[in-house]
Amino acid sequence: MKKMSVIMVGLLLISILAVGCSKDKKVAEVKKSPFGLMPDGRAVSLFTLTNGDLVVKITNYGGTIVSIEMPDRHGKVDDIVVGYDNLKSFIRNSPYFGAIVGRYANRIANGKFWLDSVEYKLAINDKPNTLHGGKVGFDKVLWDAQEFKKDGIVGVQLNYISKDGEEGYPGNLSVKVIYSLNADNELKINYEATTDKKTVINLSNHTYFNLLDGGKSSILDHELMIDANSITPIDSLLIPTGKIKSVKGTAMDFTSYKKIGKEIEKKTEQLEFGKGYDHNFVISQPWGILRPIAKVRESKTGRVLELSSTEPGLQFYSGNFLDGSIIGKNKTKYNFRNAFVLEPQHFPDSPNQLGFPSVVLEPGRRYQSTSVYSFRVESRN
Ligand code: GLA
Repeated sequence: MKKMSVIMVGLLLISILAVGCSKDKKVAEVKKSPFGLMPDGRAVSLFTLTNGDLVVKITNYGGTIVSIEMPDRHGKVDDIVVGYDNLKSFIRNSPYFGAIVGRYANRIANGKFWLDSVEYKLAINDKPNTLHGGKVGFDKVLWDAQEFKKDGIVGVQLNYISKDGEEGYPGNLSVKVIYSLNADNELKINYEATTDKKTVINLSNHTYFNLLDGGKSSILDHELMIDANSITPIDSLLIPTGKIKSVKGTAMDFTSYKKIGKEIEKKTEQLEFGKGYDHNFVISQPWGILRPIAKVRESKTGRVLELSSTEPGLQFYSGNFLDGSIIGKNKTKYNFRNAFVLEPQHFPDSPNQLGFPSVVLEPGRRYQSTSVYSFRVESRN
């Protein structure tokens, strides 16, 4: 009898301990909910990924990151992503908020390029150039979507078939993008594509961040580090000149942490052309393998974003076209430079620049690219 009660008490203790522990254990979940309808009636979904620390919302309209809720060093949670909370606004007017950009992220000069002695003419949407894929880029289409949960990792797989001739690009392109969130607060984006005809491709994500308050105030006090010793300088239409220019001694030098605002007002031709930073940085470490490329730190909250990618370049855009005309989530007015964008990518206008890494995809080959956005909090700066 005595032995029995000892065993019973033992079992009770074990179960109390187990409940206590499971409370602390981080649970990863993915949930699908309705997010409205496309103008043609197709249903759009919102996928909520959680890992116990972060809450990441992604819609299959444009493969868009809608929000990332993240605690600061005191545990106060903010949404650090700038944009909208409803589909209608994304459809009505979005400067690529959170979206997947393609078939060709960034600019193609005059919307034209040659491939195997054929000249392809693209939809012009940023006169006289093509920007982020054209008039209806990958940011404005509805992707097929399937959520998943595997080995403590949650995510959503997106698929889209871009037809031969869409926006002027050759080849039926089959694209797969996988967003996944792990227990280490890493949000990974895997891009893959195949084509049935020689084409060009450059995929990226266009999330606007503000680690302080999600876009209520300026990002100029955020500190940025980019592992790039050079940039591809631009002309007045933001098209690369084809040169590679060292950042040494210039406002473009982010090789160690520097406040974004420190030199942004310097009177230089490059900053004037970009109206601030809107430049492609040439990452120093060899591309094709996943390596750290940039870090951003916000000292008031302690929030840090670390970006790794397999891509050769990184477009750093300091939100220079935001002008207060867009009212986003929670009635937030997005003023000039209240958000920044870091777009891992191949260099802009590569189809017309022989000296840049090739963006040509041949039938039978597979385009592959990976970027990882890793979030953490520093207790003291
Ligand atoms: C990219 C471009 C910018 C701007 C934004 C969208 O980051 O480089 O010039 O067009 O997209 O507003």
